[in-house]
Amino acid sequence: MKVAVVGAGQVGSSAAYALVLRGAASEVVLVDQDEHRAAAHAEDILHATPFSSPVRVRSGPAGAAEGADVVVLTAGVAQKPGESRLDLLQRNADVFRTIVPQVLRASPGAMLLVATNPVDVMTQVAARVAHEVAGTPPERVIGSGTILDTARFRALLGEQLDVAPTSVHAYVLGEHGDSEVLAWSSARVGGVPLAAFADDPRCAVTDAVRARVDEGVRRAAYRIIGGKGATWHGIGAGLARLVEIVRADERTVMTVSTITPDVEGVPEIALSLPRVVGAQGALRTLAPELDDAERAALRRSAAILKEAADALGV
Ligand code: LAC
Repeated sequence: MKVAVVGAGQVGSSAAYALVLRGAASEVVLVDQDEHRAAAHAEDILHATPFSSPVRVRSGPAGAAEGADVVVLTAGVAQKPGESRLDLLQRNADVFRTIVPQVLRASPGAMLLVATNPVDVMTQVAARVAHEVAGTPPERVIGSGTILDTARFRALLGEQLDVAPTSVHAYVLGEHGDSEVLAWSSARVGGVPLAAFADDPRCAVTDAVRARVDEGVRRAAYRIIGGKGATWHGIGAGLARLVEIVRADERTVMTVSTITPDVEGVPEIALSLPRVVGAQGALRTLAPELDDAERAALRRSAAILKEAADALGV
């Protein structure tokens, strides 16, 4: 599988590196307007292949994406301290309206994986442009959405309960951003509802624990950005995992963002819900069990994204 990573910044280069370490592609091409930076990252990552997988790694202009099966879009400006993800919208939408047609002319059949923030509305922008340029159906334009937030939720719950995060089934839904919804009511550990742990003194999920985990998930990016300027390891690994799922047609459930006809009454909006992901993209959307407060929060999240998308005209 050939993967073109558009944007050779911290997220794009981290995703390319993770693709090599996981052996998730046969060829990775880094595309960036700064060709020297892309070439340097490609050369550096190529030197990891003898220690990992025989992946061909190179760089080039948009045309180097020719024949790509998957295009990972990470190009654009990143949050600075104090900026929300939605603050980046106009600048990054302009970047996409330029770069998406260029890469799709080189790889018209490619699936698009969007990581650029604000990732939900950017997924909507990419889907509209891709449909115009290449007739790409919406289910083949997938945003990383809240896969990273869901991972953070599972990691923090796993720490609290002393259980591997891979045995924690808990989802973060809605916007990948400040209005995201942690679906506590449907969280399970090894199939056991979280509430069943309430009486275990060693790991009771008290209100204080819930508040700590919520803050730990919702404010993670701001904390990390404050400490090192940006996040890239978590999202890079998540993007490589999505490529792996597509390549193997796994049909794994991931909280990815795609245009959804109706979310709690809000029409035509891209946000994250549990979706079955395979070679043809987001194959099915699952209806998560939510309590009334979570459902209201999801509706609010969808409305916030709808307002941002409408303001941009997508
Ligand atoms: C984060 C960025 C990827 O949440 O939005 O780390």
